[in-house]
Amino acid sequence: MSDLLNLRSVSAAYGNGQVLWDVAFDMKGGEAATVLGRNGVGKTTLLKTIMGQLPVSGGHVYIDGEDVTAMSAHMRARAGIGFVPQGRHVFPHLTVTENLEVGLSALDRKSHTGPKRVPEMVFDLFPKLTQIAKRKAGVLSGGEQQQLAIGRALAGKPSLLLLDEPTEGIQPNIVQQIEDALLRVRTELGVAILIVEQNLDFAWSFADRYFVMQRGRIVKDGKTAEDPVETVAHLVHV
Ligand SMILES: Nc1ncnc2c1ncn2[C@@H]1O[C@H](COP(=O)(O)OP(=O)(O)O)[C@@H](O)[C@H]1O
Ligand SMILES: [Mg+2]
Repeated sequence: MSDLLNLRSVSAAYGNGQVLWDVAFDMKGGEAATVLGRNGVGKTTLLKTIMGQLPVSGGHVYIDGEDVTAMSAHMRARAGIGFVPQGRHVFPHLTVTENLEVGLSALDRKSHTGPKRVPEMVFDLFPKLTQIAKRKAGVLSGGEQQQLAIGRALAGKPSLLLLDEPTEGIQPNIVQQIEDALLRVRTELGVAILIVEQNLDFAWSFADRYFVMQRGRIVKDGKTAEDPVETVAHLVHV
């Protein structure tokens, strides 16, 4: 198994309420895929399960062919997974710089050599972060917090970046900046991306592959270059 990510029959639950049922898919290095589906179908739960923030109740998760099913979120970050959670979750009382430095802990891995500092490319992708470096994250706009959350995940130099609705509730001019930055993360850095996104047009143009979820299962998947976006629109829109 030389894929970057494999999910095999993954189930997950909150208490007695099962939310994910037999989810299985693979991703290769550098690929971009989008997870689509209406509210409450389990998209966020799926990303949390991949990140290790929620234990699986069945099945297996592999990163680079290694079974990480029992591994903590912190160890999975070290294994190369970056996570931009829904709602951003930056540390409000820490400055922008301090928030970015939190992301550096993912660099505590065997393969990492060189200095442990926030890579220049984070500031290159999001120049605004340089200007607001000393501000507390709690006072930033939603768009600034989102750039910070993405920057924090990239500071750990992930090979796979999980993004949960990164443009949700962000003003339109910043949405464009975030989309442009994500395109550069793909093309210039070669980072694989798994993105949950409500903007279907962006998701379709951005991703190579798509997965549509309904009630905790993947009910449809394919390649965005082969299928017209209309094949999924009715499964995604309310
Ligand atoms: N922390 C939680 N505790 C209990 N149930 C939850 C929790 N988070 C989500 N759920 C339930 O799990 C289901 C899937 O939620 P979620 O993964 O957030 O969906 P989506 O991201 O697709 O909107 C929903 O029915 C939701 O109510
Ligand atoms: Mg969600």
